[in-house]
Amino acid sequence: MGTIGFVGAGTVGTALAITLSGKGYPVSAVASRSKSSADALAARVPGCRALESAQAVADNADLVFITTPDDAIANVAATLIWHAGQGVVHCSGAASLDILGPAARDGAQTGAFHPLQSFANVSRAMENIPGSTFAIEAESPLRETLAEMARAMNGKPVLLKPGDKVLYHTAAVIVSNYTVALMKMATDLWQLFGVSTPEATEALLPLLRGTVNNIASIGLPNCLTGPIARGDIGTVERHLAALEQRAPQLLAGYRELGQHAVDVALQKGKVDQAQAERMLELLHAAMLQPA
Ligand SMILES: NC(=O)c1ccc[n+]([C@@H]2O[C@H](COP(=O)([O-])OP(=O)(O)OC[C@H]3O[C@@H](n4cnc5c(N)ncnc54)[C@H](OP(=O)(O)O)[C@@H]3O)[C@@H](O)[C@H]2O)c1
Repeated sequence: MGTIGFVGAGTVGTALAITLSGKGYPVSAVASRSKSSADALAARVPGCRALESAQAVADNADLVFITTPDDAIANVAATLIWHAGQGVVHCSGAASLDILGPAARDGAQTGAFHPLQSFANVSRAMENIPGSTFAIEAESPLRETLAEMARAMNGKPVLLKPGDKVLYHTAAVIVSNYTVALMKMATDLWQLFGVSTPEATEALLPLLRGTVNNIASIGLPNCLTGPIARGDIGTVERHLAALEQRAPQLLAGYRELGQHAVDVALQKGKVDQAQAERMLELLHAAMLQPA
């Protein structure tokens, strides 16, 4: 394996550099917007030097990770001079390979290596890297190099084709960011009966954790519980009536997600077609209510 360099010494760059180095990968160079960030990374990785410029990293490393914020990646790729035979990789979940086009035109092999995780800081990132999924976009042989790297960090590589990235990232936003949005909707309802957001969050978290555990241990569709899974139509009616009266701004979300839950309930086999249709009618009827 050739040498590895990083441009961008933030959370992901630092955590990857330390973890890869710990697995025997030769991380040799780093540059960042501020020298102090690069120095801090280099101090934690044996044999790694903080260089004065990103160009020096591009000149010296065989595989360069651009771990800047997403908005800076294209500019870094376009302003540096790359060389044939080296690899240039970004870690963005939203961007595809095209933003590394200038590096490819210089003869570099380009790739994307996205850890499917939410990293709040370097130490949490290092804890969470093992077991994480890494989405990889690249041609061979870089694709195999990156897949091996993911496995070396006890991660799970998933290989994406050109054009898959946007759906992949949409799925990540739904499962991660929209769970936060669901917590906001639920805690807003608790405020209506006088419980503050922090208290409501604390009260609802064990339920969320239990649900996540059920998804992990039982899987779809059998992990679904609750009134829709049981076909309790009267309960769904009461929810809709209460939302209409006291929180009409949450109706659209409830009815939309409810329809997906009906699909899961049908797959689970605990409700029959007639019950599913009745629940869908109810959820659609709610959609037709005037504002
Ligand atoms: N954090 C996550 O949860 C997560 C998860 C998966 C993927 N990612 C991806 O990983 C990449 C990095 O994210 P991050 O969370 O590590 O960001 P971050 O903590 O903000 O770190 C970005 C680093 O890049 C440096 N930088 C900014 N502009 C630069 C430039 N033009 N040239 C050189 N260095 C520059 C920053 O500056 P200083 O030198 O001033 O410190 C900082 O150290 C992004 O593509 C992101 O989408 C992040």
